[in-house]
Amino acid sequence: MPTTLTLPKWVDLHTHFRQGENVRHYIADHLAMGCSGALAMPNTKPPVSRVKGPKTETAWSIEAYRDDLLSAGADAFEQLITPLYLTRETTPTMIVEGATSGLLQAAKYYPPHGTTNSEHGVPMEEWIGSDVLRAMEDNNVTLCIHGEQHALTGPDYFDLSQTAESYFYFNRMPKVLAAHPNLRIVCEHITTEAAARFVSESPPHVGATITPQHLLYTVGHLVQGLRYHLYCLPLVKFQRDRAALRAAVTEPGQEKFFAGTDSAPHTDKMTECGCAAGCYTGGCAPQLYAMAFEEAGANLESDGGSAAFTRFLSTNGPTFYGFDPSEETFTLVKEPSQTEIRETAEGPVTPLPSGLGIDLTWSLQS
Ligand code: NCD
Ligand code: ZN
Repeated sequence: MPTTLTLPKWVDLHTHFRQGENVRHYIADHLAMGCSGALAMPNTKPPVSRVKGPKTETAWSIEAYRDDLLSAGADAFEQLITPLYLTRETTPTMIVEGATSGLLQAAKYYPPHGTTNSEHGVPMEEWIGSDVLRAMEDNNVTLCIHGEQHALTGPDYFDLSQTAESYFYFNRMPKVLAAHPNLRIVCEHITTEAAARFVSESPPHVGATITPQHLLYTVGHLVQGLRYHLYCLPLVKFQRDRAALRAAVTEPGQEKFFAGTDSAPHTDKMTECGCAAGCYTGGCAPQLYAMAFEEAGANLESDGGSAAFTRFLSTNGPTFYGFDPSEETFTLVKEPSQTEIRETAEGPVTPLPSGLGIDLTWSLQS
C-alpha cells in the first residue's frame, strides 16, 4: 500500500484567478486540489482598486470582483479573501470604510512595472509613513507585499550579490516596520535568504508565503534549456536561498511561513520580446509542496515531518489571517502522477511540472 497523508483542507493564500471565461477553470483546479479557500490577487484587468460599486472600464471593486468569483465556483470555498490593489486612487477613507464593512481584509503592494499587471502600483517609498498604511494599521488590514525594488536593471536587478528582492528586504522593509510597527504584513512569494531572515527576525505579525517552485528549483533549472514555464517573478534564486526557504518551512513549530502558490495562469506565455511571468500550479500544488518538503529532508511518514507539512500547508495561514483551519480533509498518496495542459478558449495553460517535463511523485486521492 502506498503511503497516504490526510490533511486539513488548505487555503491558498496567494493565487491568481484572473477575469473572464477562464476563472471557472482556475477555481475548479483549486477546489480539486483540496483547497477550502483562496486569496485571489487583484492584478486583474481592470485592477481591483476600489472597495464598493459596479465594475467600470478602469476599476473593479472588491464587492463586484467577489460576486464574479462566487458565481464562477468560489461559493464552494469556506474562505475567499480579495485584497485591494494599492494605487494612486487609494484613500485612507476607503480603507476605514472597507474595513468597517468587512469587505476589506487585505491590500496589495505592487512594485510599479515590476511584474504582470503591476503598472498601477505606487513605489513603496511613497507609502512609508502614509495615511493609507496608518489606516490599515489602525483597522487591522493586512498588507500583502510583492517585495522587489522597482526600477532596478542589469546587475542591480539580479546578480549573486544583490537582487531586486534582497535590496527591498535590506533597504525598504526595515523602514516599513519602523514607520508602521503594528501593521500586519505578509511578505509574499519570498525567494531569498534575505527575505527569509527578515521575516524570521520580525515580530509575530509579520509572516510570509512561499511557492512550490521557489522551494523546489533554482535559477539553474530555469536557464538550462530556457524552461520558460518556470519563469515567474520574483525569479527562482540560488542554492543558498532555496536552503534558507527550506529551513524556514521545515523548522519544527514555526508559525510564520505558509502556503501561497502564486499560481498564475497565462494563456499567452510567450510574448513578442520575452515571456509573461507566472507559473501555473492549479491542480498540483500540494503534490509539489510534498515533493519540496521531501527534498528539504522532511520525512512525511514521520510525525515530525507530517506535522511541519501540516503547519505550512493547512494551519499557519488561516491562523495568521485570523480564521480557523478547515475541518474537512483531503488526502495525498505517494504515487506518481502527471499534470495535463489545459486547453481553454483563450489558449492553452501549461501547469508547471508539465512545462518542465517532469512527473509528480505524489497524487491526489480521488
Ligand atoms: C503574477 C501574475 O502572473 O499575475 N506573476 C508572477 O510571476 N508571479 C504576478 C505576481 O504575483 O508577480
Ligand atoms: Zn502573484
